[in-house]
Amino acid sequence: MNEIKDLDRDSRCPGLSYTDMLNGDTRTPPDYLFEETNLEMSDDPIPVSAYISEDYAKAEREKMWPNVWQFAAREDEMPDPGDTVVYNINDKSFLLVRQKDGAVKAFYNACLHRGRKLRTECGPSIQLRCPFHGFTWRNDGSLKEIPSNWDFKHLKGKDMDLPEARVELWQGFVMITENHDLPDFKTWLGPAAEHYERYDFENRYTGMWVQKKFPANWKATAEAFMEAWHSITTHPQLLGFLGDANTRYDLIGDHFNRAITPSGVLSPHIKGKGSDYVLEKMNEFSGGDDAETNRRFNASEGEAGFDPEDPLAARRVLAEAGRQGFTEQYGYDYSDASDSEILDNFTYNIFPNFAPWIGFLPTLVYRWLPGETCDESIMEIRLLFPTPKGEERPRAVEMTYIPDGEPFSSAADKMGPQLANVFDQDMANLPYVQEGMKTLKSGQMELGTYQESRVRHFYETMQKYLNGKVPA
Ligand code: FES
Ligand SMILES: [Fe+2]
Repeated sequence: MNEIKDLDRDSRCPGLSYTDMLNGDTRTPPDYLFEETNLEMSDDPIPVSAYISEDYAKAEREKMWPNVWQFAAREDEMPDPGDTVVYNINDKSFLLVRQKDGAVKAFYNACLHRGRKLRTECGPSIQLRCPFHGFTWRNDGSLKEIPSNWDFKHLKGKDMDLPEARVELWQGFVMITENHDLPDFKTWLGPAAEHYERYDFENRYTGMWVQKKFPANWKATAEAFMEAWHSITTHPQLLGFLGDANTRYDLIGDHFNRAITPSGVLSPHIKGKGSDYVLEKMNEFSGGDDAETNRRFNASEGEAGFDPEDPLAARRVLAEAGRQGFTEQYGYDYSDASDSEILDNFTYNIFPNFAPWIGFLPTLVYRWLPGETCDESIMEIRLLFPTPKGEERPRAVEMTYIPDGEPFSSAADKMGPQLANVFDQDMANLPYVQEGMKTLKSGQMELGTYQESRVRHFYETMQKYLNGKVPA
């Protein structure tokens, strides 16, 4: 899998491509949206043992997780000195502590006495006192006190500072790794790190945050969000305004891949409708009424200039309404923002389990965490909102854990009913994916060459880690 393949229109969905849409944009989108990078990979089936075997999960814990950069927290969860976040991953726990100078440290969350976790809850800390016998560390990890220290004379002179993982702050995300030899996060990630620079992520805050347990392997759950073409059967309500089958898929280096699913266009699966239908369906989805449709309609082209036969007409109307709406809401000038960066779905994935979207919209961030067995995972969904101009960045909202057995729609007041419904639709497949994989007679699954290229890319990078060929 190394060469960049010449693009071949025959191996893409017929009709308008994403590049055609970028070329029809009312502004000039940034170069990185035009770049098409798809690696030559095999079409071989993928073994389901990667999803259903505890041995495979154990190999991930030993060889992959300690050797990658992981998204551990948002800075807006811990803005003030002494704020802490407990980040649990597999059977490990890290205690993130905001320092007086604004840095963040990530300690192994275990008392150096007999190993009790130092903290189990996030929140402010004056000092880190172990609840078992009271060994105490300062917030910077230096040892402060050993009760009954007459009994610990043997520790005098020994390094009793709390051991640390490496931390980097990137675009408001707290990234950590246990591997002290990895390149810095931006080098490790590659060129995609620059894609975040236009959107002021550092100044965004977590305005919606839910977690839910899924009865499926964490990779199967993540992969349900790596391609858009399941929309035709799983999310049919989206087809009126979503370019599901003309989604662009790009693979850049070992640690990054993306899907860009255009919004405000008709799905290639829907025939005989025009851009007026797109506006109507988008409006239904966003819960607007007819007055809202008319407002959007008049916001840019007006009825006279609107050509329903023009496949990009609805994008122009929706993008202009978005620019105006965001300016009213957040106070910034969005006049240079391309239609694409206002409208589209940028499902960006950073290996292994972190998906921070880009764009000017309030952006989604997904994180997938392994569960207690290989048949379970936790999916986390956040929305990052721009801090309104002139205001101080708000603190992250509290995370809502959706009780097991409850649908996302039980948190519809937080997520919005339409978004909750989309996740419930995804969720409906996953238990049966996990069960079905165990039943597959061949023990292998077959992937689409292009539309599932990210799934294969993810698997190949994972294999490199498990085979000891850790990508630099
Ligand atoms: S285990 Fe922490 S003080 Fe004893
Ligand atoms: Fe989906």
